[in-house]
Amino acid sequence: MFDKQVYISRRKRLLEQVKDGVILLLGNSEASCNYADNQYQFRQDSSFLYFFGLDKPDMAAVIDANTGEETIFGDDVDIDDIIWMGPQPLIADQAAEVGVEKSAPLERLAEVLSQAQKQGRKIHYLPPHRNHNKILLHRMLGIAIHDLKAGASEELIKAVVALRLIKEPCEIEEIDKACNLGYAMHLTAMKMMRLGMVEQELVGVMEGVCKSGGVMTSFPTILSQRGETLHNHMHDAILTEGNLCVIDAGVEIASHYCSDNTRTLPTGGKFTQKQKDIYNIVLAANDYARDAARPGVTYRDVHLGAAKIIVQGLKNLGLVKGDVDEMVAAGVQGLFMPHGLGHNMGLDVHDMEDLGENYVGYDPDQTRAKQLGLGSLRMARRLRPGHVITDEPGIYFIPALIEKWKGEGHNAEFINFDKLESYYGFGGIRLEDDLLITEKGARILGAKRLPITVEEIENTMYTD
Ligand code: GLY
Ligand code: MN
Ligand code: MN
Repeated sequence: MFDKQVYISRRKRLLEQVKDGVILLLGNSEASCNYADNQYQFRQDSSFLYFFGLDKPDMAAVIDANTGEETIFGDDVDIDDIIWMGPQPLIADQAAEVGVEKSAPLERLAEVLSQAQKQGRKIHYLPPHRNHNKILLHRMLGIAIHDLKAGASEELIKAVVALRLIKEPCEIEEIDKACNLGYAMHLTAMKMMRLGMVEQELVGVMEGVCKSGGVMTSFPTILSQRGETLHNHMHDAILTEGNLCVIDAGVEIASHYCSDNTRTLPTGGKFTQKQKDIYNIVLAANDYARDAARPGVTYRDVHLGAAKIIVQGLKNLGLVKGDVDEMVAAGVQGLFMPHGLGHNMGLDVHDMEDLGENYVGYDPDQTRAKQLGLGSLRMARRLRPGHVITDEPGIYFIPALIEKWKGEGHNAEFINFDKLESYYGFGGIRLEDDLLITEKGARILGAKRLPITVEEIENTMYTD
């Protein structure tokens, strides 16, 4: 937890943007695996954490935007809880730790909200993403569950996004720590990979490194020789010679700040020439994005610049043909990189996407494209110092997608479909770093960049 002034200041800035009504911020509850006391890892709601820092289940907070009065709702433990969980601090003491003077039992929350509704006051709430909170909101506010998202407060969403998007120095320190642990996790896998291993063995070791220094992975680990499936969570294959293994994994440290890195490794420790040719295009796109990312530039333009490098590289290999700018405008790159260049990262690995991807990643004057790839760009905004974003270009050969475009004749004038057939089974390559936008440009988060050039990767693999 940060110093209480951090939370007081965040709430003060929130009230500069939301001036009327009642702000309701719900924490998360435990989720049980089967019986009530056998629970999944508890994860607090990130916006609740951001404004209140309290990392315990079954809490909520209300801020009266007109008077500034703040109340934390939650229940003190009883003797039964103490028997199983040990003594716990009182809710009032926890509230005081983050500069909140008032606290009340959780059952009082419904009454407070109902009274505010009777007075005709607006209740500002964020779109709920946990079913427990959907039910709670439905019961307390009388809004049908399927209407809750639409009824969320746009004013509150925009205010929360504006604050959380620009990371404070204390947050950057935490993200650097998360990236350092992410570095250790990836480096371990890079050194340990051996032909004949089952992918899951590496997943287990990586997650062990993550959990020994943090609390959990920041998303389910992706580690697969079938890297052309973008989020492949199957880890049951044996590592065999000649394959590429995409490892996309991140950590979440105790403060809940995240890391997210991807490296693509040759299973036997050495790239083939064919693999190097594609790898170096992705690396050039990754390097370009970091160099191009700076205040005032939109990440949409950086995405398109990276797309241009990818298309030019594929043209040099004879896989596509024609004018590069025309190909980028036509969206040829979507066949090879059907995802966006990156996303915001912070307390969530895909920061705040529960609040609405477009609120988080698009400026008011930007609209989201429909084109394959660009349409999946989650962060398009004009960059500002304090943004933390991922830089994760990739090239994938997805036979089903190639066949679909071929069958439809989509962008057929630009694509050498016959030549692409020799890439079926190649897999995919993604290279992901985490960037902080600074006053002058961008820096890679964490003390050291993970090995990334062909030479660095080959010199690191098979060394332990
Ligand atoms: N969670 C995968 C990624 O965004 O990189
Ligand atoms: Mn990733
Ligand atoms: Mn990512």
